Amino acid sequence: MKYKFDEIIDRSRTNSFKWKARELKNNGHEIYPMWVADMEFDASPAIQKRLADRLKEGVFGYELLSEDYYKAVQYWLKKRHGCEIPEGQIVYCANMMSGLSIILQEYTEEQDEVMMNVPTYGNFYHTIEGCGRAVNGSKLREVNGRFTFDLEDMERKVTNRTKAFLLCNPHNPTGTVWTEQELEGICRFCKAHELLIISDEAHYDFVFHGQHTMLRKIAEKYDVSSVTMISPGKSFNVAGVQTATLLVDGDAMKKQIMSRMNAMAYPFEHAFAEGVTVGAYMESEDWFEEVYRYIKENKEMTVQYIRENIPYLRVPESEATYLLWVDCSAMKMTDEEIIEFWKNECGIMPSGGLEFGEAGSQYVRLNLACPKKILLRVLENMKKGFDGLKS
Ligand SMILES: Cc1ncc(COP(=O)(O)O)c(C=O)c1O
Repeated sequence: MKYKFDEIIDRSRTNSFKWKARELKNNGHEIYPMWVADMEFDASPAIQKRLADRLKEGVFGYELLSEDYYKAVQYWLKKRHGCEIPEGQIVYCANMMSGLSIILQEYTEEQDEVMMNVPTYGNFYHTIEGCGRAVNGSKLREVNGRFTFDLEDMERKVTNRTKAFLLCNPHNPTGTVWTEQELEGICRFCKAHELLIISDEAHYDFVFHGQHTMLRKIAEKYDVSSVTMISPGKSFNVAGVQTATLLVDGDAMKKQIMSRMNAMAYPFEHAFAEGVTVGAYMESEDWFEEVYRYIKENKEMTVQYIRENIPYLRVPESEATYLLWVDCSAMKMTDEEIIEFWKNECGIMPSGGLEFGEAGSQYVRLNLACPKKILLRVLENMKKGFDGLKS
């Protein structure tokens, strides 16, 4: 292994959100954080060098991105996702959720509804509701151990106030990788109801089974308006640098989004945006491939361990992401009791299912992007905790 993913890094030297949470300190005993979706690994040497070089310049006035930024985004999308995108359709934004907020404010009115498949990423609710829009949630169905959307339910729920569909592609927290046929179903639905599709592809590089399809490829075929949000944040563990990209579907959308950004006093780019994007997409593919393999092993190991050792837990198929969606309903506890049990009896802080909406009740989500030595210890502690539940 070229990179040191086995090394345990001490994140207490940073202001890590995952590690600084009050919940981890409550009980006087060690609780390992497996919640917030970032990785316990240093960024690639190429990214670190790019940022260090920029830092050495010592001057941090207002900036504009150069050609290199756009070329890096184009390179990665073509190489890894078979998607050719004109430079004019690439728009920088600080992070994906601010992108979502800008899109909602531009394309929907207060009290309009945004449809999405639930349970899903908690900040989708916060951003939609924070913008004064309403969530119209359609519950995912589990079919043969894999989660998929329910078109009949979506047809029943859509109203004339529904103006956009927020797709999580691939899906957080369930890990479903949408097939082309499924995306075609979404596009037909959105075309029929004149919904803008907002495709969040934060986790698009971590697809372990099946093939990631960028929504925009299918949307073009069905002539549906769409905007895609991507970022090196998840793939390269650089979410703290606040750099994301919107892929718009043409000049008109670009103009509208840019003018909304200007209205929100958002015209300039982060001084580290270009370094992190170029360092990631152009110079760290081998780092990414190694972390991908490492996480794939972590995920397979965890699924097998839970299935063999912990009958109280059920793990549906998870085709993508470094996250695992775990059904705890056999514990016969309330959602609050489930979290307390994981913390106090297993020494693990998971994301509670309700963070993903009501439809996430009775589940937890585990983040598996950590050194194997830690993961093994965590799994043993998990087993010990659940063995105690038997007696
Ligand atoms: C599906 C999804 N979208 C977006 C984000 C956050 O993106 P950003 O930090 O760029 O707003 C996350 C983070 O966990 C996520 O899981």
